[in-house]
Amino acid sequence: MSRVYRSVADLKGFSIKNCPSMPDPAGVMMCPPDFYDVKEVHNPFMVGHVGAINKTIARRQWDEVKAAFEEAGKPISLIDPVPGLEDMVFCANQTFIGLNPRMERLCLLGQMRHSSRRREVPAFEAWFREQGYRIVRLKDPAACFEGAGDAVWHPKKRLIWGGCGFRSEPQVFEEVARVFETPVVLLKLVNERFYHLDTCFCPLTPEAVLIYPSAFDGESLELILKIFPVVLTAGENEAIRSMACNSAIVDSSVAIAQRGAVGVAAHMQAMGLKLVEVDTSEFIKSGGSVYCLKMFLY
Ligand code: ARG
Repeated sequence: MSRVYRSVADLKGFSIKNCPSMPDPAGVMMCPPDFYDVKEVHNPFMVGHVGAINKTIARRQWDEVKAAFEEAGKPISLIDPVPGLEDMVFCANQTFIGLNPRMERLCLLGQMRHSSRRREVPAFEAWFREQGYRIVRLKDPAACFEGAGDAVWHPKKRLIWGGCGFRSEPQVFEEVARVFETPVVLLKLVNERFYHLDTCFCPLTPEAVLIYPSAFDGESLELILKIFPVVLTAGENEAIRSMACNSAIVDSSVAIAQRGAVGVAAHMQAMGLKLVEVDTSEFIKSGGSVYCLKMFLY
């Protein structure tokens, strides 16, 4: 029941229709960008941007993203930013949040690949404990797992998509499946530009997903094509410059996306989504856009 699917052969007998339903997120957590900066290069987006963040513009852009979630009907909860933790604003990575089949709210702590980001996790642990989530830790303290950056709920279904290759390690998804009592479909990332699953994989509805195909190996693409009846693709320019696959989709009805990715915008609208465009250019300099500026709360 809570197994990890790694190839199409593993999917024998699996049907998305048989996956139990999962509620839509109840709210959104964000972290104000008070101490946001690019201090060292952790991914290809950050190259050339050390010390080059315009803090005033970043703040204005973050406010716009927050307003878009509020407008989409999701209450926002804020975690206090911590001085010296320049990536804390990307609050999709330190934990993976969800419900088990008994509707218990769980917070699985991430184990970040880079030491500068490991210091972010205790603040999130304290915040989620305070909010009443059950805190769960991976058994192996040395294994890397970057939370909702590499673990994505299938819309409205008890199914989790996992990504490994650059930040999270494949073996942790056995534990993700066990903790959430939910099957995981594990995808392999092969292009270092697309270092987190959320940079190249964006479910739009229970039936349709947006991907950047060359971020994945062949086996992973087969898994995606097997499970989603509709697979839409982002072009290279939009996937990189606009981080178009890092859009946030609210309840399969609203897409909050970086402004100007016209091809992807057309796909979203064709799937019946309301498109809300925002500017996240100061955050793309660090390798993140709308999706990773928030954590969905359950
Ligand atoms: N600079 C951050 C890092 O490299 C960006 C994280 C963006 N988050 C995401 N889920 N893609 O870790």
